[in-house]
Amino acid sequence: MPEHILSNSDLEAMVETSDEWITERTGIKERRLAKDIPVFEMAAIAAQKALEDASVSPSEIDVIIAATITPDYYTPSLSCLVQKQLCANRAFCFDINAACSGFCYALDIADNYIKTNKAKTILIVASEAISRITDYTDRNTCVLFGDGAGAIVACAGRDRGMYDCILKAIGSMGDVLKAGMFSENKYIKMAGREVYKFAVNANVDTITSLLERNNIGIEDIDHIIPHQANKRIISAVSIKLGINADKIYTNLEKYGNTSSASIPICLDEMNKKNMLKSGDMLILVGFGGGLTYGGSLIQWI
Ligand code: UT7
Repeated sequence: MPEHILSNSDLEAMVETSDEWITERTGIKERRLAKDIPVFEMAAIAAQKALEDASVSPSEIDVIIAATITPDYYTPSLSCLVQKQLCANRAFCFDINAACSGFCYALDIADNYIKTNKAKTILIVASEAISRITDYTDRNTCVLFGDGAGAIVACAGRDRGMYDCILKAIGSMGDVLKAGMFSENKYIKMAGREVYKFAVNANVDTITSLLERNNIGIEDIDHIIPHQANKRIISAVSIKLGINADKIYTNLEKYGNTSSASIPICLDEMNKKNMLKSGDMLILVGFGGGLTYGGSLIQWI
């Protein structure tokens, strides 16, 4: 995470809002801003730490998949820039754009490379500087987003880590959450209530389908790690599905919505807090622009 903190009280000085409104409607207290740190630098730092945690050297990486909607360049891609930083010279590299669902999409792609024996070791990195496409005069959006990066190393093994993955998209609803390519439309524009309703339904649909398809109940799941957009979205989903709130991990109060990076940032925090035990069953669930959504059922090895 970048070090610069933008608190709710900082935002009170920028737009007509209040700490009380932001906390009640979203659960967010502060978020981090990359300022002049490039997206690839945050990505490379996260990737380096993930490799160290996994005891994998850069020369072992077969593929680097980067998820972002805020790359530093059209080309070279974020994944190629990460490759260069790490000297992971054997890897082939590409970026994907599935907005806040980017990490879930990347995980499924990685799983398919591994299951078809095309790769053994895959670095997935999600890095975003959403502050660069945020209009800090628009109170409807500027209170929500933050910057950050997260990474994981996915490896082929004898154990079954990835059980299932579901990905979906509703392109016909894309207009409710948009950021353009040109200076006049580059800032995020969002119909908040529409996205809110979509988000609750998308999360419920993904979690229910993952449970049904794999013949397991919610009681068999140890942790749910949702995309960190809004505490009310997360609690609406937990009420609808009767999920005990302590099974659902959140850190959005500290970081806001970091788009595709939010799920791997949570995973890293949970790992560092020793919350993830071997054999634990996890559901990761994301949604975002596109509109896109999806999630995975994973066993922590
Ligand atoms: O990764 C996906 C990204 N997006 C999301 O997940 C967003 C999903 N949507 C949401 O989280 C919520 O819809 C928001 C947090 C964006 C908004 O909450 P809401 O409860 O849906 O509020 P609203 O948009 O219906 O607005 C209610 C009122 C409006 O005032 P009026 O028209 O009732 O007078 C807004 O102008 O709140 C006003 N408002 C604010 N007031 C103070 C909107 N933003 C703010 C603000 N501070 N920051």
